[in-house]
Amino acid sequence: MRGVILAGGAGTRLFPLSQVASKQLQPVYDKPMIYYPLETLMSSGIKDICLISSPHDLPIFQRVLGNGHQWGIELSYEVQPEPGGIAQAVIIGESFVRQEPFALVLGDNIFYGPTGLKPLISTFGGGAVIWGYPVKDPQRYGVIEIDSSGSVMSIEEKPDDPKSDLVVPGLYVYDGTAVSRAKGLTPSNRGELEITDLNLSFLNDGQLSAVELGQDVTWMDSGTHESLLESSAFVAAIEKEHGHKVACLEEVAYKMGFISQTELAQTIEKMPKSPYRTYCERSILG
Ligand code: TTP
Repeated sequence: MRGVILAGGAGTRLFPLSQVASKQLQPVYDKPMIYYPLETLMSSGIKDICLISSPHDLPIFQRVLGNGHQWGIELSYEVQPEPGGIAQAVIIGESFVRQEPFALVLGDNIFYGPTGLKPLISTFGGGAVIWGYPVKDPQRYGVIEIDSSGSVMSIEEKPDDPKSDLVVPGLYVYDGTAVSRAKGLTPSNRGELEITDLNLSFLNDGQLSAVELGQDVTWMDSGTHESLLESSAFVAAIEKEHGHKVACLEEVAYKMGFISQTELAQTIEKMPKSPYRTYCERSILG
């Protein structure tokens, strides 16, 4: 399965930080935010990844991440000229996804723990799959109601009276029909092609199911100053407590068998002397 990361958007809520760099290039503790969604895809076995961003920011992503070969993956890039909505990414990625199933992850979403994406990839039989994450304040999000078999019965955006506490994070798996469905969507009042409308299109055809995330997974969306700070604090606390890094892409690539020990050593050799390099040398190379 291929992967798409959506890393454009306006980032207005992060002003004035967003003047310095796009949201997904901001630091989440010791790494750029984009490392975390990359980890989500890579640790599920996805090696072919297309990153979509604005014309202004795309060259910076290309400089920071390159072609992905240092991690044994193939990274390609596409431009989203204007922030026309998350579902627009599906249309922009048309030639990349080639009418095949793909996973879409938002560039400001951080998952820590097993998302279930990896087992899903091997069993995916078509339609669309979204995730459900339990929160205390579902009124602020897209809320889903699912039956005992995992089929989605309803999706409601920011409901006053939520039918469940399960909200939809920025991770989706679609079959090849997603592109034509996205092309058929009408822009919303805010002028965007809404991902909820794409999901509703699958729901209306009885083809939308959900994976319910358990307590062993933490999901964070880092789009505000407060959530950015909380994400950094969370990653710092985990790294300090367990002594392992979250989303160290060299470590993920090596453990997934994407790169050999020799290739890993070559990648580390190019890093400046830093705590990150020391971690890679000690923890992975031994
Ligand atoms: P949002 O956080 O909904 O929007 P935003 O990034 O524009 O931020 P703000 O609301 O503060 O202006 O976007 C969620 C993710 O999707 C984020 O990683 C950016 C990405 N995105 C795009 O790449 N293109 C788009 O057209 C939109 C709407 C979002």
